[in-house]
Amino acid sequence: MLSEKSRPVVEATIGIIAERIPNITPVFYKSMFEARPDLLDGMFSRANQKNGTQPQALAGSIAMFASHLLNHPDSYPDEVLSRVAHKHASLGLLPEEYPTVHEHLFGAIAADLGDAATPEVVAAWDEVYWLMADALIKIEKGLYSQQANDVMFAPFRLISKEPVAEGVVAFEFEPADDTPMTPSVAGQYISIQVVVMDGLRQPRQFTLVPSDPGHRRIVVREDPEGEASPILHEDIAVGDVLEISNPYGDVTLDPDFHGPLVLVSAGIGITPVVAFLDQLAREDPEREVLVLHADRSEAAWPGRELVRDYVSRMPNAKLVSWLAAPGEGDFAGHMDVSQAEIPEGAEVFMCGPLAFMQSVRSQLVSGGVPGRSIHYEIFGPDLWMLHDEARTA
Ligand code: HEM
Repeated sequence: MLSEKSRPVVEATIGIIAERIPNITPVFYKSMFEARPDLLDGMFSRANQKNGTQPQALAGSIAMFASHLLNHPDSYPDEVLSRVAHKHASLGLLPEEYPTVHEHLFGAIAADLGDAATPEVVAAWDEVYWLMADALIKIEKGLYSQQANDVMFAPFRLISKEPVAEGVVAFEFEPADDTPMTPSVAGQYISIQVVVMDGLRQPRQFTLVPSDPGHRRIVVREDPEGEASPILHEDIAVGDVLEISNPYGDVTLDPDFHGPLVLVSAGIGITPVVAFLDQLAREDPEREVLVLHADRSEAAWPGRELVRDYVSRMPNAKLVSWLAAPGEGDFAGHMDVSQAEIPEGAEVFMCGPLAFMQSVRSQLVSGGVPGRSIHYEIFGPDLWMLHDEARTA
């Protein structure tokens, strides 16, 4: 809880801090990476620095956290903290790094605000930072303690690599040493360290899809402009060994909820849906499940046979597709959920591009689905949670 002393100061300055974040973050990151270039080797993704999403997410989440403390003094925004802590843990972040971010972030804030950064203002925001950092550190410690091993990354050997759709390849790995493997839960992801052109390790997260026991399997769409996916697609060969983290991620099925599920995806966002269907087909095959998928065409749709196979084995499951290619799919063009019958009382899981999920979420909410029943996974830093209080309250 924020102290009585800091509360009015944060209240008075949150507007200006939030407004200045786009100016503060580039200075913060520049000074941090100048002082600690090693953080770009295996920890931060350069791609997300270049496109600016990660700096905005980090600094924006602190403003969002402060706003939550002002509006709901007795609670924390658990959904946001959990998402960030899982991402941090998948990168092996340790508590001793928190002072690094603090030093450079606050240096940048002081430089940007100038005289407005009085000792009271700095002390109040320091309090916000450390409340959030301590909450994250605690969750991260809990996550590490649940693992079957005490390493952040372990070596895995690529044992198969097969194309599964246009520009999409499935990779299956087996352990390359005797580190015990933490079992994954459907919907979770791993971080993989990809060694890029200049020799730096660049971590990327990929959802785990069903694999043989004791293996890790991922499905990757190549982004020709990207730094890591072209290397995975073109350079990594069967027999190569890569460093892979334990599984993390909190967008998973609630074991205590037995009502209907709606699984919504577009493009490569199908991967968590495949993982959920696999779990449901094994553990709860009678479950009422509606699968909604949008894609460019049959050929571009990854895992289409798998999805059809799971659905055909589950008597109360149904698949509805929207494909842009004429004559393919149940419907043409963009997903319109009013063309499918959303079951009463359903929990919804979505994965796909942000614009797609925003559109589907509005359609669902207009159709009467409560916002709190709609969950999503975003590939990359989540900027959505920062701008929509309904997602985090
Ligand atoms: C990711 C917040 C401390 C390294 C993130 C994200 C947020 C965030 C919001 C994006 C999560 C997502 O949606 O995927 C914070 C806050 C911190 C903090 C509020 C302090 C209170 C740190 C520290 C480090 C760090 C100390 C390491 C020195 C990272 C990295 C990512 C990340 C590497 C993923 C970056 C990427 O994929 O580009 N953090 N973070 N964070 N954070 Fe933190």
